[in-house]
Amino acid sequence: MYKKLIPCLGKYKKYALLTPLCVVLEVVLDVYIPILMGRIINIGILGGAGISYVLRQGALMVAMALLAMCFGALSGRFAALASTGFASGIRSKVFEKIQSFSFANIDKFSPASLITRLTTDVNNAQMALTTVIRIAVRAPFMLIFTTIMAVRINARLSLVFLAVIPVMAAAFAIIITKAYPLFIKMLGKFDKLNASLQENLVAIRVVKAFVRRDYENEKFTKAATDLMVAQKKAEKLFVLTMPLLQLGMYFCMIAVSWFGGNLIIAGGMQAGDLMTFTSYISQILMSLMMISVSFVMIVISRASVSRIVEVLDETPDISDENADPELTVSDGSIVFENVSFSYVNDKSNLILENINLGIKSGETIGIIGGTGSAKTTLVQLIPRLYDVFEGRLLVGGRDVRDYKLKNLRDAVSMVLQNNELFSGTIRDNLRWGNENATDVEIETACRAAAAHNFITSFPDGYDTWLGQGGVNVSGGQKQRLCIARALLKNPKILILDDSTSAVDTATDLSIRQALRETRGGITTIIIAQRISSVADADRIIVLDNGRISDIGTHEELLKTSRIYREVFESQQKGVA
Ligand SMILES: Nc1ncnc2c1ncn2[C@@H]1O[C@H](COP(=O)(O)OP(=O)(O)O)[C@@H](O)[C@H]1O
Ligand SMILES: [Mg+2]
Repeated sequence: MYKKLIPCLGKYKKYALLTPLCVVLEVVLDVYIPILMGRIINIGILGGAGISYVLRQGALMVAMALLAMCFGALSGRFAALASTGFASGIRSKVFEKIQSFSFANIDKFSPASLITRLTTDVNNAQMALTTVIRIAVRAPFMLIFTTIMAVRINARLSLVFLAVIPVMAAAFAIIITKAYPLFIKMLGKFDKLNASLQENLVAIRVVKAFVRRDYENEKFTKAATDLMVAQKKAEKLFVLTMPLLQLGMYFCMIAVSWFGGNLIIAGGMQAGDLMTFTSYISQILMSLMMISVSFVMIVISRASVSRIVEVLDETPDISDENADPELTVSDGSIVFENVSFSYVNDKSNLILENINLGIKSGETIGIIGGTGSAKTTLVQLIPRLYDVFEGRLLVGGRDVRDYKLKNLRDAVSMVLQNNELFSGTIRDNLRWGNENATDVEIETACRAAAAHNFITSFPDGYDTWLGQGGVNVSGGQKQRLCIARALLKNPKILILDDSTSAVDTATDLSIRQALRETRGGITTIIIAQRISSVADADRIIVLDNGRISDIGTHEELLKTSRIYREVFESQQKGVA
């Protein structure tokens, strides 16, 4: 699983390899320094080699310590370069992958969870890498080197370590196996906290409008408290490692001093060797602890890494790999042939059933139906935001799956029901429709969408800055900007999904009139709540519960369709 992420290192791979190299060199020096200290005592002081020997060895010690420090600093720097590069590599890769997702893929993960994966989980993966290339290399090397050196100095005295190491290792292992599930639980709570925060911030206006502050506060506090409790539980066990380490260290020191002291008295060992030995005790036990800690970190990051890999492994539902890049949409005709659709790919849960419908190029089609009657679902199939479950959908005489998505969606412009604007100027936003649009084209599109007048009434006109999501324009203005943006694509098919719901009837009418004058031959599909918005369409489709209940002109439907008549009468009453 971890292997899958290695390519994300990219050009930082060399740092990931240099880090352990520096670590090993640092360890070698760290292990050698106590030996020099032993020599100073054995040869320099007790052996009577004199002050010049002591000074020379001392200088060597200082040099080695400095060198060790350099390697330590280098390994730290390389590890930081490797791990930050790794994190940014994963982020770009995951982000790129998400861009290839269809709506269905995104529905499956949910945006909140994708954000957590891109942030917290990537941080954990980054931490895991640092741990692996630094600590997980350093600790075992240190343990092995020091043990070898200790045994070489005095094998019998080393028995003290060799007896204590398994006991300590077992104790650490017990702590970790108990703490691991608690850490995993803690990560789950972290997810909940993130989810609560994201949901609240995305919908902060609704929260305020409904005066849900206290409720939201309570919800968040609960999530935060849960996290704290889980964290406390996990840490409670974990803090035991430090005192345990010290206990082991002091025990070893006492034992080594006792046995070593006796050996020195009996003449079986030199005092300097005992000094060296004592330094090794802390090094050995410290590495033991580091091994267990890095083990925990790697294991904790497992959950995060698997969540990242899950995103990377997801196959985009909608792919156009086998499509002919040359094939473009020739005209705006649309044919539904026995189309059925399910959001969950389940025959018993069909949202659209057996839709048969032919739309000629240039026709204007209105769609009327109650909420949840699958109006949005029906039109989303045309630019292939979702794929049909059964049947065929032809655009310009070819199955939509034959086209490259870009070619298809360039020809099919859809203004979504809850459409978004992005931070940037109005002009920037409009150019999403066509990056090369001239100012004249932009103005024409805006006039057709009845947006030109309100845009020029802003002091900055087309250069007015829009906040994230277009927060600083009204709902109706946002809708008109979205229509203008869609028009700029010069599409063959224009789909307006309830796109004028927030504008007044007069503006709605002027948009429709302007569209009729300018669009010339564009197939237009208008989903609306108001009969008046669709009454002048060539044909109107009445959708009911995922099926086409009636098709006809306004006059025909008033005679033949009970649903249409009822909607019409209720809206007339409202007017009266
Ligand atoms: N992304 C989705 N995942 C699952 N079910 C969905 C999704 N979007 C809509 N639905 C369901 O499909 C049905 C039709 O929805 P929709 O096409 O949005 O209706 P309309 O636009 O007519 O109000 C509804 O029952 C709705 O719950
Ligand atoms: Mg809808």
